Amino acid sequence: MATSKLFSFLFLQMMFVLFVLHPANSQGLKVGFYANTCPEAEAIVEKIIVQTLSRAPSLAAPLLRMHFHDCFVRGCDGSVLLNSSTNQAEKNAIPNQTLRGFQIIDKIKSALEKACPGVVSCADIIAIVARDVVATPKGPFWEVETGRRDGRVSNITEALLNLPPPTANISTLIKDWQQKGLTAKDLVVLSGAHTIGIGHCGGFSNRLYNFTGKGDTDPTLDPNYIPKLKSKCKAGDQTTFVEMDPGSFKTFDEDYYTLVAKRRGLFQSDAALLDDAETKAYVELQATTRGSTFFKDFGVSIVKMGRVGVLTGKDGEIRKQCSRVL
Ligand code: HEM
Repeated sequence: MATSKLFSFLFLQMMFVLFVLHPANSQGLKVGFYANTCPEAEAIVEKIIVQTLSRAPSLAAPLLRMHFHDCFVRGCDGSVLLNSSTNQAEKNAIPNQTLRGFQIIDKIKSALEKACPGVVSCADIIAIVARDVVATPKGPFWEVETGRRDGRVSNITEALLNLPPPTANISTLIKDWQQKGLTAKDLVVLSGAHTIGIGHCGGFSNRLYNFTGKGDTDPTLDPNYIPKLKSKCKAGDQTTFVEMDPGSFKTFDEDYYTLVAKRRGLFQSDAALLDDAETKAYVELQATTRGSTFFKDFGVSIVKMGRVGVLTGKDGEIRKQCSRVL
């Protein structure tokens, strides 16, 4: 009897360590969480995304980025969507001021509230949207885990502390990612999202004009690329933007790695992937094998990212309006 009690105690301890203390607590998340409660949920999201991208294809990139920015601050809990009457929400933090597409999330939420009121969380909508904007029309596809619930807190300072700046070096990036339960491989794989979308000059102009405070350029940036970037971004320009993957910035492909390998990654955080043996090897592998494993890897890593700090079960809430005021 005493032995069986000891075993159950040890078993409970093990479960606690596995599911409660683990930073990527995926308990309660599963593929097809809404199969019974809202069977049309994913089809409704897909329909609106296909419609949206046919009219405004450039929204794919910020909607993908939104999932990352949601998950890295308080976990994937939809807190990036909340509004603050005093401008103190995550949304108000500088890195989030260039996010776009909040109205698309609201539109999807209204459609879902009509179909199945109070069932589908805003955090799950962001995760499904991230998959659909990549898969439409021909990027990788992955099965999205759902079952997240929405948080009630959104704080500007937490966003500033948790979202990596474009100037981050490789040790900071790897450390930040580890703190979220993600690996260096997840970092290099998910950075591949920079195959779509744009970057504002302000995020990298230090590399063109004043890298160490002496009017110099970043020696890790391809010198032949610098004049092209300078022609688009004049010194001090914060508002112009450039394509991160020039020529195919709307297509989700492996070109990002070819660019980074050629030292044409736009941000220091992109270039930094060449400063660690593991991430460098991954960049070079994808660059020389036309992205042999990138699509499959992206699906695996983004599902992992989607588990970071999630609220499930009875935690949090199912928000009626994703951008409600705090
Ligand atoms: C590794 C650390 C990362 C840093 C430092 C970083 C930083 C940035 C910055 C500064 C921009 C430009 C924003 C602008 O100027 O408008 C950007 C754009 C973007 N990022 Fe990242 N990012 C990182 C990782 C990721 C990840 C993990 C994803 C998604 C899985 C992602 C998706 C995107 C996308 C799609 C865009 C284009 C947005 C648009 O076109 O509006 N990024 N990122």
